[in-house]
Amino acid sequence: MARITIAIDGPSGAGKSTIAKLVAKKLDLDYIDTGAMYRAVGYKMLKEGIPMVEDETLAEMLDRTTIDFSKGDTILDGQVVSGLIRTQEISKAASDCSAFATVRKKLVELQQAMGKTKNVIMDGRDICTVVLKDAPYKFYLTASEDERARRRHKELVEKGEDITFEKVLADIKERDYNDSHRAVTPLKQAEDALLIDSSNMTIDEVVNFICDRVNSR
Ligand code: DC
Repeated sequence: MARITIAIDGPSGAGKSTIAKLVAKKLDLDYIDTGAMYRAVGYKMLKEGIPMVEDETLAEMLDRTTIDFSKGDTILDGQVVSGLIRTQEISKAASDCSAFATVRKKLVELQQAMGKTKNVIMDGRDICTVVLKDAPYKFYLTASEDERARRRHKELVEKGEDITFEKVLADIKERDYNDSHRAVTPLKQAEDALLIDSSNMTIDEVVNFICDRVNSR
C-alpha cells in the first residue's frame, strides 16, 4: 500500500493535536506533534537558564539535545516531559524560541527524518509549507480567535491553572502575531492546503472530513 502522509498547519488552539491524534488512531498512523518539540526546546532553555537569544550557548545546547516520541509521550533527553511543557509559561517560551533559525533548522531536520520512513500525521505551523512540502494530504485548520481562546481556557482550567479567559485570549492574539510575523517561515496557509474552519464544527466532523478525503483517493 502507498504511504500515507498527512500535514496539518494552523494557529494556536485550532484543535490540531486533538484532531490529529484521532485521525492517527482511525487510519493507523504515527502522530508527530511538532509544537511539542518547540515546547521541549523552550522548556530546556528556561530550565537551564539559557537567555532567550540566538547565540552560541543556544547552538551548543541544541547539539546536546535529543527529542523523540514514545507511546504518545514527548521525550526530551531520555525523560518524559509531556506534562511539563503544557503550561502558559512554556507556550510563550516555545513561541519565542521558534523564531530562531538554529532551532527551526534542528527541529525541521528531525521532523523530516521522522516523516520519511513511517505513515505519519504531523501538525504544526510550517508542515505543509516546509517540513512535508510533498505530502499528498495538506490541511490548514483554524477557528475564530474567541473560539480558540474558549477551548484553550477550558483545557487549562481543567488542568488546574488559575487563569482568566481574557488572559488566554490576549496570549492567543500575541502568539498568533508572533507565529505569523516572524522572519523565518512564518505561519501561513500553503497554496495547496485545504482550509478547514472548525469554529462551528464538532471534533468528530473535522476528523471525518479529513479521513474521508484520505479514503476517497
Ligand atoms: O502547537 P503548539 O502551541 O504546541 O506550538 C508551540 C509553539 O511552537 C507555537 O507558538 C509555534 C511554534 N511552532 C512552530 O513554530 N512550528 C511548528 N511546526 C510547531 C510549533
